[in-house]
Amino acid sequence: MKRIFLSPPWVDRSERECVSAAFDSGYVAPCGPMVEEFERELSRISGRRHAVAVASGTAALDLIMEDLGVDGSWTVIAPTLTFIATIGPAFHRGAKLVFVDSDATGNIDTALLARALGDLSRVKGKTLVIPVDLYGRVCKTGEISALCRLHGAAMVCDSAEAVGAIDLEGRPAGKCGLAGIYSFNGNKIVTTSGGGAVVTDSKRLADHVRKLSQQSRENKIWYEHKEVGFNYRMSNIVAAIGLAQIRKLPEILAKREANFRFYRSLEESGASLKIWDSVPGENHWLTIASLPSRRERDSLIRRFGDACIESRPVWKPMHLQSVFRNCRIYGGSVAEDLFLRGICLPSGSGLEKSDLARIAACIR
Ligand SMILES: Cc1ncc(COP(=O)(O)O)c(C=O)c1O
Repeated sequence: MKRIFLSPPWVDRSERECVSAAFDSGYVAPCGPMVEEFERELSRISGRRHAVAVASGTAALDLIMEDLGVDGSWTVIAPTLTFIATIGPAFHRGAKLVFVDSDATGNIDTALLARALGDLSRVKGKTLVIPVDLYGRVCKTGEISALCRLHGAAMVCDSAEAVGAIDLEGRPAGKCGLAGIYSFNGNKIVTTSGGGAVVTDSKRLADHVRKLSQQSRENKIWYEHKEVGFNYRMSNIVAAIGLAQIRKLPEILAKREANFRFYRSLEESGASLKIWDSVPGENHWLTIASLPSRRERDSLIRRFGDACIESRPVWKPMHLQSVFRNCRIYGGSVAEDLFLRGICLPSGSGLEKSDLARIAACIR
């Protein structure tokens, strides 16, 4: 039986042709015209002046933190309901981590964030807030950036899952704060097989991040270094896949939205799952639902598994992870409930009618 994956790459001849063109150009290297063109496309879709294509979304966050100088004297605030990569680079830099509960959308609760920032203003050291656009649903960026300004905190949007989404005020995902980051991992709405990007309006930051991603070489004919960088640049071959993908973004978004409408129709026809309310402008990367109880959620995941269909629980909150047991959490019960009853439903761009029929049979 054909396996239905949660969110597999949706690629065809156009990606192959782009990769082939990249080969023919001779730039089989971590630089080249496709990287530059991909960056121009990313700048366009993010509404940011600059985009720097790198090896992963995690690398993008790490590079921004390197630029900011995040270290043990910093506090990094993030929503508890996220993928570990949001705070992985901050953890490795020794920053103090503070987690904040979700609101009903799954994104960071801004009232609790305000409390956390208020508490931290009495503590020495700098603060970075990393809100997340969970499952492609853009968080309250306007409110969060106002809070960050008020408390003198830096803000970087983790829009890894939100390429193509827009916020409540019509800004593209990744447009708020000092910078935004995207992921182009194999499961994302736009994939390069693996990759990421920093998008920002700051030329200084973009130039520094680009330099850091290429071992921080000075502009000399010999290898001159005034700082130590990383090898995080995106390759021309990988960017070629991204270029073909990004040209299909409108089609991809339409297909993901069609998946959402399919699940909504199942809900309306009496299935006992509650699809998470849509957030205006979301990209519908994954459709998420909550079941009445954890037992019913686990049983649906098992039924899917028996039918060769992949589904997943919602992210396990960071404050429940043993590695972060000593970190401060503001609230927590909303995210815990979303985790215990939530399920990520198969949401690939290439789902066919026969796939949807198999999925519907499991849900009914
Ligand atoms: C919320 C979030 N942040 C960061 C990342 C990291 O991106 P990458 O896998 O490209 O390193 C991901 C995805 O994997 C993610 O879902």
